[in-house]
Amino acid sequence: MPKRAKLVVGNWKMHGRLAENATLLQAVAQGTGELPADVRVGVCVPCPYLAQTQSLLEGSRVMWGVQDVSAFTHGAYTGEVAASMVTDFGSTLAIVGHSERRAYHRESAELVAVKTQRVLEAGLTPIVCVGETLEEREADLTEQVVGAQLDEVLVKLSEQEAARIVVAYEPVWAIGTGKSASAQQAQAVHAFLRSRLAAKGAAVADVPLLYGGSVKPENAEELFGQMDIDGGLIGGASLKAQDFLAICKAAGAISVSG
Ligand code: PGA
Repeated sequence: MPKRAKLVVGNWKMHGRLAENATLLQAVAQGTGELPADVRVGVCVPCPYLAQTQSLLEGSRVMWGVQDVSAFTHGAYTGEVAASMVTDFGSTLAIVGHSERRAYHRESAELVAVKTQRVLEAGLTPIVCVGETLEEREADLTEQVVGAQLDEVLVKLSEQEAARIVVAYEPVWAIGTGKSASAQQAQAVHAFLRSRLAAKGAAVADVPLLYGGSVKPENAEELFGQMDIDGGLIGGASLKAQDFLAICKAAGAISVSG
């Protein structure tokens, strides 16, 4: 049985409008009240809805944040959002290096590492995403790919900084496809990532390691029950209060105090 506390974070991606967000956020704030104390929950929303999210989640146990930040602190970078701006709305989380950003916005491992630094400097928790494509998995390159993605970030951080990150393993072939990695496949990669983190220093060994990619109420408990899986980064299922809460509950069922 894993000893670490659980963390479940919703990644809304580019979904949501004011009216539907209100219903979803209120349901999540209410529904998480009953969870065991060591289950932490968060949602990463589109930037225009940060103020709404803050007003509806403040006082609840749900944390909130964004899905990306600029690699710069401020300046003439049209369209960019700085990590410090995000903190003005009470956010504590920022996803960096999601595979959709690496693929569609050509974000390099180096850029993801710089963004992680900006997030840490702003006092936020970065959720650093790593993951291999189907071609890479089939070529037996999974460890090489996710190891290199993680190392690029770790090399830029001190041990104290690295101890503040969250890592999300998200196989690209499992994202939004309905085809989750099996609990065994996910655990094997998590164990590998855990050893890589431990090599950075004792304080880094226990950072939360989330699994993401088609997590649903039906597979959450088995995934979260694995030794090195400390929770999940949830895309599609985080848009439905009932499903997201069921996934949080699954984390609660196998949490230390659950
Ligand atoms: P999914 O997305 O749960 O819809 O597969 C996960 C993610 O991309 O973070």
